Amino acid sequence: MERHPIILDCDPGLDDAFAILLAAASPAIDLRAITTVAGNHTVDRMTLNARRVCTVAGIRDVPIAQGCDRPLVRPQIVGSDIHGESGLDGPTFGPPTVPTDPRHAVDLIIELLLASDGEITLVPIGPLTNIATAMRREPRILPKIRHISLMGGAWGLGNRTPAAEFNIVVDPEAARIVFESGAPITMCGLELTHQVIATPGIIDRIAAPGTPVAEMAAAMLRFYASTTARRRRSFGPALHDPTAVAWVIDPTLFEAEAMHVDVETHAEFSYGRTLVDVDDVLGLPKNAIVPTRIDAARFWDLLIDALASYHA
Ligand code: BDR
Ligand code: CA
Repeated sequence: MERHPIILDCDPGLDDAFAILLAAASPAIDLRAITTVAGNHTVDRMTLNARRVCTVAGIRDVPIAQGCDRPLVRPQIVGSDIHGESGLDGPTFGPPTVPTDPRHAVDLIIELLLASDGEITLVPIGPLTNIATAMRREPRILPKIRHISLMGGAWGLGNRTPAAEFNIVVDPEAARIVFESGAPITMCGLELTHQVIATPGIIDRIAAPGTPVAEMAAAMLRFYASTTARRRRSFGPALHDPTAVAWVIDPTLFEAEAMHVDVETHAEFSYGRTLVDVDDVLGLPKNAIVPTRIDAARFWDLLIDALASYHA
C-alpha cells in the first residue's frame, strides 16, 4: 500500500481531533507533522488540544508545531459556540505529556516541503493562514506541494455566516491566496461533510471498545451533538475534518468533479463565501476537485476501525 506523507494543519476542535486520530492510525498515511493555527479558538488552546489528543492516543513521534495566532488581515473569530470554551469540550483531560516542537508551524511546513521531492500532501482543516503565509514567504514550496486536501467552503449556504463556511470566513484573504496558488486542491465543503453525521448509533460504535481513545471520542461527540443541536437547521455533529484525510487515504470513497472556485474577499455581508462554479458557467480553469458525495457507510468503517486500533 502506498503511504502518503502529509502535514495536518489544524485547529482542534472536536472534528479536528478525529482527523488527527484517523491520520495517525492509518497505514496509508505517513503523518510528518501536526501544525496548529488560530481558528476554533486561540492558537495556544489549539496547540494544547493537539497535545491532549496525542497524549491520550499515545502519538509521540509526530512534531506538533504552533502556527499563526491570527488571520492575515481580519480580527479573529472563534468557534467556541460549537467546540466549547476549551475548543475541545466534552472529555476531561490530564496534563499533556507530548511536547510542542520549538519551530513555528510556517517554518516547519517550509522546511519539510523544501527538503521533499514533491511527495507531501498538505491537509489543512482550519483557516488557511499558515498555508498562505508559507506560500508567500517561500514561493519555492509551491512546486513541491503534491496536493492540498482541505476542509472548507461550500457551494451553497454557510455555517458561520449565511454566506460563508467557518474555515474560509475566518481568513478569506489566506483562502484566496491558496485557491489562486495553482497548487492542486481538493475542497471538502459543507455539502460533502454534512453527509457524515455522527448519529447516536455511530457514537455507540465508537464508544464500544471502552479504551481511553474510545471514551475521549465518545465524550467529544456527545458534547458536539449538544452544541450542533442548537442550530435551527441542525445537521447534527458532522465530522467535517476527517473527510479531508479520508480523501488522501481512499479517494474511491468519493464522487468528485473538477470545478472553478473563487473566494469572496471584498463584499460586506458575504465575504468568505466560496463561489463554486458547479455548472461551469464561467468556463474558467478548474482549480479544485470538489467531492460531491461520500460513501458514508465506508467512511464510518474506516474511521471506526482507525479509532479501535488505539488499544492502550
Ligand atoms: C469547520 O469549522 C470548524 O469549526 C471545524 O473544525 C471545521 O474545520 C467546519 O465548518
Ligand atoms: Ca477544523
